[in-house]
Amino acid sequence: MPPLPDHLQLGPLRVETPVVLAPMAGITNAAFRRLCAEQGAGLYVCEMITSRGLVERDETTRRMLVFDELESVRSVQLYGTDPVYVGKAAEILCAEYGVHHVDLNFGCPVPKVTRKGGGGALPWKRGLLAEILRAAVAATAPYGVPVTMKTRKGLDDDHLTYLDAGRIAQESGVAAIALHGRTVQQAYSGEADWEAIGRLVDHVDIPVLGNGDLWEAADAVRMVEQTGAAGVVVGRGCLGRPWLFRDLAAAFGGREVTTLPTLGEVAVMMRRHAERLSEHMGEERGCKEFRKHVSWYLKGFRAGGRLRRSLALVDSLAALDELLADLDPSEPFPVGELGAARGRQGSPRARVVLPEGWLDDTDGRGSHVREDTTETTGG
Ligand SMILES: Cc1cc2nc3c(=O)[nH]c(=O)nc-3n(C[C@H](O)[C@H](O)[C@H](O)COP(=O)(O)O)c2cc1C
Repeated sequence: MPPLPDHLQLGPLRVETPVVLAPMAGITNAAFRRLCAEQGAGLYVCEMITSRGLVERDETTRRMLVFDELESVRSVQLYGTDPVYVGKAAEILCAEYGVHHVDLNFGCPVPKVTRKGGGGALPWKRGLLAEILRAAVAATAPYGVPVTMKTRKGLDDDHLTYLDAGRIAQESGVAAIALHGRTVQQAYSGEADWEAIGRLVDHVDIPVLGNGDLWEAADAVRMVEQTGAAGVVVGRGCLGRPWLFRDLAAAFGGREVTTLPTLGEVAVMMRRHAERLSEHMGEERGCKEFRKHVSWYLKGFRAGGRLRRSLALVDSLAALDELLADLDPSEPFPVGELGAARGRQGSPRARVVLPEGWLDDTDGRGSHVREDTTETTGG
């Protein structure tokens, strides 16, 4: 078996551990990225922002483009359907925000997005995909900033796009392609198909990053061994569990580590998470944002229903401190949770919502897919 990759090369950008925090809308803001990054080396991608929002200087978009002072590598995922907007947005990211890596979202399964031909629907239009990728690469090249793309297997099992997308990415100068081993139709249901990741590895020369259902560091190692991927992208597995990045860094360094924080250590991380969010967005909004993380942090611990409900309504750091003080700090990590899925799963979509006549041709060049200024539903 070939040795595990000890780093990830994205064009000129060297990432010391071949592990990427998946962009997750509403989650991977500066606060969460910092907590994860403190645990180990890797690449930590900002939540998705829209090209049009950035180009039109939309305030919400600008507020999302915040980086922690310790973030030495700034990585952002752009959403876009129009080569002109994507090119301009990529240029703004490099010139004004000093970004070191731009990822493009071609995987979002949300009907609101695919209905307009965006996200996971877009790779069906091979010509348009090439135009968008080339526009982004041309815009970032003068800054030496690599562009990557993230996609799914296709619309559904009868309309697979990932192999073509990989070839087009390679021909367009894209530095790597990340594949979530599900179709748009599957959304988050079922199991990620790692064999498809292996097929993409065989199909292209650029690095392939494997994504889907990595709940423990050992899963990431197994995925790389099975598929030959150059690295992994980790999403839901790290929800309420920034420590997973410590285990991942160890695993790719050849050591087996499973960090099992006590409930007291989890509470300290929860407090820091809420505090960081408050620093970035103000205490009231920060605490509200924090609420969605509570059940992930406490997953499997004994903490009672009333306490959980109060934590999920927390509106200030002082209130949070009071509630966290009621947790038993010595309670050990619920090892039964290891390897278990977390975050959204749901069921497959009855059908993929697409623009009228979308499947009629596979080129799409020159078609004007209308872009939203703010699209925050992610992938
Ligand atoms: C809450 C949430 C938000 C997401 N937002 C995005 C996004 O903005 N862009 C994207 O490419 N993928 C997004 N995704 C998909 C993840 O990046 C990842 O591809 C997917 O969760 C599969 O990986 P996992 O099994 O490790 O979670 C999101 C996923 C979740 C759960």
